[in-house]
Amino acid sequence: MKDILLKEYKLNNMLILKNRIVMAPMTRAKATDELVPTDAMVEYYVRRSSAGLIITEGTVISEDASGYNNVPGIFSEAQVKHWKKVTDKVHHHNGLIFLQIWHVGRVSHPTFLKGKLPIAPSETEMTQRLHRSENLIPGKSRAASVQEIQEIIENYAIAATNAIKAGFDGVEIHGANGYLIDQFLHHHTNRRQDNYGGTPENMARFALDVVRACGEAIGYERVGLRLSPGGYLNQIVGDARDAEVFKFLLAELNKLPIAYIHTGNFDDSQKFSELNQMTMTEFMRKHYHGTLIGCGGYSFKQARENIENNLFDLVAIGRPFIANPDLIDRYIHEKPLVPYHNAMLDTLY
Ligand SMILES: Cc1cc2nc3c(=O)[nH]c(=O)nc-3n(C[C@H](O)[C@H](O)[C@H](O)COP(=O)(O)O)c2cc1C
Repeated sequence: MKDILLKEYKLNNMLILKNRIVMAPMTRAKATDELVPTDAMVEYYVRRSSAGLIITEGTVISEDASGYNNVPGIFSEAQVKHWKKVTDKVHHHNGLIFLQIWHVGRVSHPTFLKGKLPIAPSETEMTQRLHRSENLIPGKSRAASVQEIQEIIENYAIAATNAIKAGFDGVEIHGANGYLIDQFLHHHTNRRQDNYGGTPENMARFALDVVRACGEAIGYERVGLRLSPGGYLNQIVGDARDAEVFKFLLAELNKLPIAYIHTGNFDDSQKFSELNQMTMTEFMRKHYHGTLIGCGGYSFKQARENIENNLFDLVAIGRPFIANPDLIDRYIHEKPLVPYHNAMLDTLY
């Protein structure tokens, strides 16, 4: 019998993955100062086009959505044009590629925002240094106004439309890892009392508004969503009440024909007290009935077992894909993997 990881997977009527191994989104911070993808990035993604689906690094939806230098964007003509080089070549190699679209919210610093404070659902304070922007501590954020929230939703839809113009097969909305959408979904960072806070329905509204705006703009079949129901990154502190917010969100997502949802985590064996001692993936499998991508420290063996045991449908692999551009070939031919080291992040290979 054929290895389940190497079997085709029909995501929907538009998209068929040639295997079940997805390349996880990974920020590489190698775009130009204007946040334009480079030719080295074209080659980096093309080398990995044997993945069933590539999900690109987080790509900012507008100039003020960023908190890092040299991450790519998808709001200028030059960015669209250069991403098109990536998608053309990946398609030429028979690959599929989604663009991960991103707004960091409070995980930023006035340096990136023409001196303004980062926005979040509510006023908060981050004391942790920014990942990859080592000298900066984000500090205080301010509460987004309803008008700003509406503008951001619109910017997500424009970014999704630009992604299709750039030839992507779809977008993954980055709703995980403590960034803006995730900040709305957790009580620790959302203490609003208006339509975007206070109840599970209101706290899930921003995520759903973004999904609907993108779905209406490019078709729901081309929209995926990454989520972290447990609080674990960028100083989100879990709260027992968060589970109700995610249950509401997942129940609503069950009604929409989106492509998939995807666990945002580095170690998916981690169980969360706020999720009834479940892992994030177990929790999402319980409450969401569509395609689920598991991610976070998986070996091929564990991934195969989890797919066979119906914990998830596809596995996303991150760091091993940085160390092994030919990861799929190595898996098929049982060749040893090159171990990942953080120093590999310095260059794009
Ligand atoms: C260098 C690096 C950059 C990352 N950047 C992103 C990102 O842009 N968006 C995202 O959702 N996750 C990001 N992640 C998380 C990965 O998608 C993935 O969840 C994590 O690496 C765990 O998978 P792994 O154990 O297979 O590496 C990043 C991880 C690494 C190592």
